[in-house]
Amino acid sequence: MWIFGYGSLIWKPGFAWVDRRVGFVRGWQRRFYQGSFDHRGVPGNPGRVVTLLPDDSAATWGMAFKIEGDEASRVLAKLDHREKGGYERHRVAVYSGASQVAVDEALVYVATEDNPNFLGPASPTEIARQVCHACGPSGPNTEYVLRLAESLRQFDVDDEHVFAVDKALRTILRDEQ
Ligand code: BEZ
Repeated sequence: MWIFGYGSLIWKPGFAWVDRRVGFVRGWQRRFYQGSFDHRGVPGNPGRVVTLLPDDSAATWGMAFKIEGDEASRVLAKLDHREKGGYERHRVAVYSGASQVAVDEALVYVATEDNPNFLGPASPTEIARQVCHACGPSGPNTEYVLRLAESLRQFDVDDEHVFAVDKALRTILRDEQ
């Protein structure tokens, strides 16, 4: 079984994998539109994490992980729990190039626009301001943004939205010093 991560799973999968491949999915754009009330924020001061929105012309880079045996059922049970909170499970092909398939079929979890924690669009600066002051049981929201941007830089790929939020956040953090 393969799982495609496009958020914190990229740098902190939290499960044992036997293989992993950098790649992208077609037809989805990554946006910081999902509110985080239990990981990178709290009720009353939610953070923002990424979700995927359907977009035929978009591609989103991330990391596919291969999981085997009992670990696969354990991970599925854990992630499926999120489905109850408004995440949908999709099957996707993961590509490593224009016509190069990295993984034929992977599962990806997407927070839908109608889930109760969906916050929706905001400018990179507005998102960065919110991120700056949010912290939850999984740690500061700033760490989430900085590590996601850092991972994408390491993959040597572009993501206009993530890099714009990362830039706005760094500006705020610098000015606050
Ligand atoms: C991710 O990091 O890719 C992710 C984690 C949990 C739910 C959906 C996506």
